[in-house]
Amino acid sequence: MCKTYVQDLFDRFRAAFDAEPRVIARAPGRVNLIGEHTDYNHGFVLPMAIERETRIAARGREDGRLVAVAADLDARAEADLDQRARDPKAPWMDYLVGVADELARLDLPLTGADLLVTGDVPIGCGLSSSAALEMAALTLFEALGGFQLDGAEAARLGQRVENRFLGLSTGIMDQFISRMGRAGHALFLDCRGFDHELVPITGETTTFVIANTGISRGLTASKYNERVAECREAVEAIRRATGKPGTHLRDFTLDHLETAAKDMRLEAFRRARHVITENARTLAAREAMQRGEMARLGELMTASDASLREDYAVTCPELDAITRIARDLPGCLGARMTGAGFGGCSINLVEKAHAGDFGARLLPAYRDATGCEGEIIVSGAADGAGIVFRSE
Ligand code: GLA
Repeated sequence: MCKTYVQDLFDRFRAAFDAEPRVIARAPGRVNLIGEHTDYNHGFVLPMAIERETRIAARGREDGRLVAVAADLDARAEADLDQRARDPKAPWMDYLVGVADELARLDLPLTGADLLVTGDVPIGCGLSSSAALEMAALTLFEALGGFQLDGAEAARLGQRVENRFLGLSTGIMDQFISRMGRAGHALFLDCRGFDHELVPITGETTTFVIANTGISRGLTASKYNERVAECREAVEAIRRATGKPGTHLRDFTLDHLETAAKDMRLEAFRRARHVITENARTLAAREAMQRGEMARLGELMTASDASLREDYAVTCPELDAITRIARDLPGCLGARMTGAGFGGCSINLVEKAHAGDFGARLLPAYRDATGCEGEIIVSGAADGAGIVFRSE
């Protein structure tokens, strides 16, 4: 099976560039089990990499240009490595050029390349197709340039692509798990300092099921940046009211927040309450997974969803419907929205005995409630980014 997909990439690369690729890199998308909107607050996250990935086949070029074909979009774009400008006609190319830009800033060896990009991470569904593209591109540039960054450095580089090149205030979670994921494991990450730990997904009797609402919202980027700003506002207010030093919501407790409550906007209070309680839930979820307490994990996931809906206000009617319906189905231990929100996917913890029926019951009920076509995405936990092929 592996051979056929490499072979297929070879064939497509030859058709596009009339030459053989020298390197093929891959990087997965992710689903977050719990710890949502905590990463940019220096908190905790618990994602797993999924068996959907971006693949890039490439060979070096001598002329300092990137020539890229997005096979699934039937699109082609070019960029000059000396200019490294954004291309409004090919937004997908910005991720490749953004990675190159960050490597150039670090003075790392950067060569031009012919690139063929393909993959099966659904775009705009909250499963981190962007991070998969960034980490696949970085892995490829590392192979072509003969250097290797460590995991946290690689993830931070991807985050800077989003923050600096694309203007999104996103955190580190997606790039970190895309680079550092391990098959059969979730990854607990402390987003301050980047201590991390693999957490086995033993799940003898339970499994995670991803459900896509089919809704992808254009507003996500501006609402996301608004939440980041509200968290900063909350930090300022808590610091002023309590005198406790701190730079991020990670530094404060619910008691601090209560002390500051009368001196802050209700929105900022609610956003902070979500982040502070979500950090506690994520620590508890790690422990529940380690002890095999799956019912407890399910409760924490459902509590996370309520907090994201009521305090953080990042769900939407379709997400609320798909999680509400799921929770009433037999064998569902917990359901929550996952990723940035405003659309995209939910993650459900389901007893294996009921997993087969889960989608068959969920999707028609979701269609009746919303008029939208949902989708079940089946995936175990996958390995992080890597090289699939390299010619001698
Ligand atoms: C997006 C961002 C992440 C994280 C999540 C919400 O996926 O890229 O950094 O903030 O939203 O948890």
